[in-house]
Amino acid sequence: MTNVVVIGSQWGDEGKGKIVDWLSERADIVVRFQGGHNAGHTLVIDGVSYKLSLLPSGVVRPGKMAVIGNGVVVDPHALIAEMGRLKDQGVDVTPENLRIAENATLILSIHRELDGMREDAASNSGTKIGTTRRGIGPAYEDKVGRRAIRVMDLADLDALDAKVDRILTHHNALRRGFGAPEVEHSAIMEELTSIADRVLPFMDSVWRLLDKERRKGSRILFEGAQGSLLDIDHGTYPFVTSSNTVAGQAAAGSGMGPGSLGYILGITKAYTTRVGEGPFPTELTDEIGQFLGERGHEFGTVTGRKRRCGWFDAALVRQSVATNGITGIALTKLDVLDGIDELKICVGYKLDGQEIDYLPAAQAAQARVEPIYITLEGWKESTVGARRWADLPAQAIKYVRQVEELIGAPVALLSTSPERDDTILVTDPFED
Ligand code: GDP
Ligand code: IMO
Ligand code: MG
Repeated sequence: MTNVVVIGSQWGDEGKGKIVDWLSERADIVVRFQGGHNAGHTLVIDGVSYKLSLLPSGVVRPGKMAVIGNGVVVDPHALIAEMGRLKDQGVDVTPENLRIAENATLILSIHRELDGMREDAASNSGTKIGTTRRGIGPAYEDKVGRRAIRVMDLADLDALDAKVDRILTHHNALRRGFGAPEVEHSAIMEELTSIADRVLPFMDSVWRLLDKERRKGSRILFEGAQGSLLDIDHGTYPFVTSSNTVAGQAAAGSGMGPGSLGYILGITKAYTTRVGEGPFPTELTDEIGQFLGERGHEFGTVTGRKRRCGWFDAALVRQSVATNGITGIALTKLDVLDGIDELKICVGYKLDGQEIDYLPAAQAAQARVEPIYITLEGWKESTVGARRWADLPAQAIKYVRQVEELIGAPVALLSTSPERDDTILVTDPFED
């Protein structure tokens, strides 16, 4: 028995929500450890769809504890709105089933506004990132800059004045530069006092909670957001998010030691998608890309933007296997490839006449690489909803085996539709 860390091995939207929901039946606690409400995780249970951004996907299962760790940036308004949406769907979120780390950073309206101002200014010069405009980057900047307001600060309103001064001095200087009106101290104080009573009942010491649960033998499931190619260090910088998304962050972002993390499950889409700007070597702008987008419903959960689609890039996922220490993968959306005559898989790149088997780190080189493909025969049969390995056509099995060989990691789970139970279990990560 072990704990399990779920992370995205590509550019996000690999199907983490579905797999975390499926695995959470076997877990006691589900923990988010980075990112914020830039994430959009979809679960489909008996035809009913749940969309989670900030709350861990385990929250929809009765009897499970959901935890938001210190590595997450928490927008209290988004939190309250998401709890309201879930309540409308019959899911009650209370301090009984949700805890938020006292040392997690808050996203305030000034962060959201700054994110938008930066993206608007960059649009004019053609250098925008294509962020979700949710204030994620600015909030992490304030955390690292040691001027963030944290959840625990809501409990000490007397000490808040000086902290608000410090953060506003910085933000108002930036706002003047952008030609935006300055923000009054009283406005931030009002914002914070208005949400304090709604957030404080959930506050806890998460490292102590997890330590206690670990000693008791509880099963802990970590739910990553975004994907490894969006990692601030290992991703396609600067077209990345502002947190570490790799599995190692599960430890730092929750306060549990890395030795207790256990099985690292990389969620991997059977093709590739990306939202926002940035390099994408296997991107398809032809009718096959169009087909993948339509069949796979590739529209952003958070922003509704159309996701860019392309062939499976084994070189990128092989890199993720290394940077995350992936034990096994959950291969998702295999069904989307049904009926395509020929399937291509990228095995490496050509860069200035040289063959390489990894994505180079430099932005200019990333934009220049040309994918090297192998071609596999497709399959005509439908795999939608397959729940047994034996239900898969021979060519589909061949595709899966080829993926395993090229990335150097085995398939532990295989997903064949958005529905919770349309999942094939090969190896149980909790028992590995
Ligand atoms: P996440 O951000 O990694 O949780 O992924 P998203 O929820 O943003 O995007 C994945 C989308 O694919 C969602 O709409 C899921 O319901 C859907 N999905 C997940 N697994 C499968 C699968 O195996 N087949 C199909 N067709 N859809 C899937
Ligand atoms: P899930 O958890 C896909 C992308 C944005 C943008 C870049 C930076 O659903 O897989 P940010 O707002 O984080 O500063 O934007 O990161 N991005 C995602 N792309 N899935 C996500 O989350 C994403 N979260 C952020 O589109 O390119
Ligand atoms: Mg998503």
